[in-house]
Amino acid sequence: MNTTTTPWSSSSWRSLSALQQPDWPDPEALDVALDRLRTQPPLVFAGEARDLTTQLGSVCDGKAFLLQAGDCAESFDASADSTRDKLRVILQMAVVLTYSAGVPVVKVGRIAGQFAKPRSAPTERMDDVELPSFRGHIVNGHRFDAESRNPDPDRLLTAYNQSASTLNLLRAFTKGGFADLGRVQAWNREFVAESRAGQRYELVASEIERAMRFMEACGVNTTNTPAMHQVDFYTSHEALILPYEEALTRQDSMTGEWYDCSAHMLWIGERTRALDGAHVEFLRGVKNPIGTKIGPSATAADVLGLCETLNPEHIPGRLTLITRMGAELIKDKLPALLEAVREAGHPVVWACDPMHGNTFTAPDGRKTRHFEDILTEIKGFFEAHHTAGTVPGGVHIELTGDQVTECLGGAEEILDTDLSERYETMCDPRLNGRQSVDLAFRVSELLRTD
Ligand code: PEP
Ligand code: CO
Repeated sequence: MNTTTTPWSSSSWRSLSALQQPDWPDPEALDVALDRLRTQPPLVFAGEARDLTTQLGSVCDGKAFLLQAGDCAESFDASADSTRDKLRVILQMAVVLTYSAGVPVVKVGRIAGQFAKPRSAPTERMDDVELPSFRGHIVNGHRFDAESRNPDPDRLLTAYNQSASTLNLLRAFTKGGFADLGRVQAWNREFVAESRAGQRYELVASEIERAMRFMEACGVNTTNTPAMHQVDFYTSHEALILPYEEALTRQDSMTGEWYDCSAHMLWIGERTRALDGAHVEFLRGVKNPIGTKIGPSATAADVLGLCETLNPEHIPGRLTLITRMGAELIKDKLPALLEAVREAGHPVVWACDPMHGNTFTAPDGRKTRHFEDILTEIKGFFEAHHTAGTVPGGVHIELTGDQVTECLGGAEEILDTDLSERYETMCDPRLNGRQSVDLAFRVSELLRTD
């Protein structure tokens, strides 16, 4: 049982039950990989994680909005172009949301480390062949053959190296001019001009331009203002493979506190959030901002237990509760949780994951989600918060910058007969670039208070 009174260490999770761990066939090879990881430099720094906690603290009070978005499962084969295009879509969404919310948007990618996947079954069967399930590139390969599906600890090192190079690219893009507000606005303009829903979004796009001209006219020199050219961008992933997370956990020399330096923010998945489980034990002791998914089976007592265990000091921004109820269930399930957390006085960020409760199988057997269900869940999320008097703090989206055909609907409607055209995900269906920007404009309509 993890209680805040039992001592924590980066390995104290090892005495508890850790769900969703692969069966590593060669424990010695695993130890060699972990030893190597322990000697590698941190990917992120404690000070950056602290800055993110502070920014998420503003989200708790409604003074900022969280956009957490990126891939369901990143690939070791992802190109620099696909990273750039994913970032571009997130920046486009953030500008639209910033304008409509009238507060800063905290940008957190599911990126540079989102390589591990929980699975509903440990094995997968095709005809007469049964093999271990694909658990993300940090564990095994996606191809359905015995060699590829064998868990390989060298992949932990590849995950580290891949995260480092993605992070390097993100740091260069976000500080080196790619995130320039004028440029992002030009991409949104292009989207509006090309989109079938263009007219609907024309007004917001024009207003953003007017606001930029107004700032110039008032004498704000936008050319020399760093805030116009650079953005803070943070990384996150599901902390699933605990030996990897442990090996990248370091003591901060400034404060003596422990940080999981594999990403700025880590979250616990719906399948591993048991209060007496290893994942909660591990994350309770690191000082990074953390999240936990909250699905429809979670009771108010479960959620309060998580709040007390993961944020006993009531630090605003420390804990994000990412609800993923499904478009149908959110109306019934969310209100009681909002009330319980509010009554108990826990400062949390409430974020809406409108993806994972809305997955279904299309007639061709592919997993998909409908744009309208995603939007309906987000609407339900805003309505529940409005009624409870709590703050709808953000959204958590699975997307890619590529023009894939994995989710149905959107302004450029994708039909179930289109899915086979470009279905590339290794795990869950993602919104494509256009559907993502489309969603940001639709959410911006919900955010506007005027
Ligand atoms: C995910 O975020 O990709 C995921 C598996 O979510 P959940 O834990 O909510 O099912
Ligand atoms: Co997913």
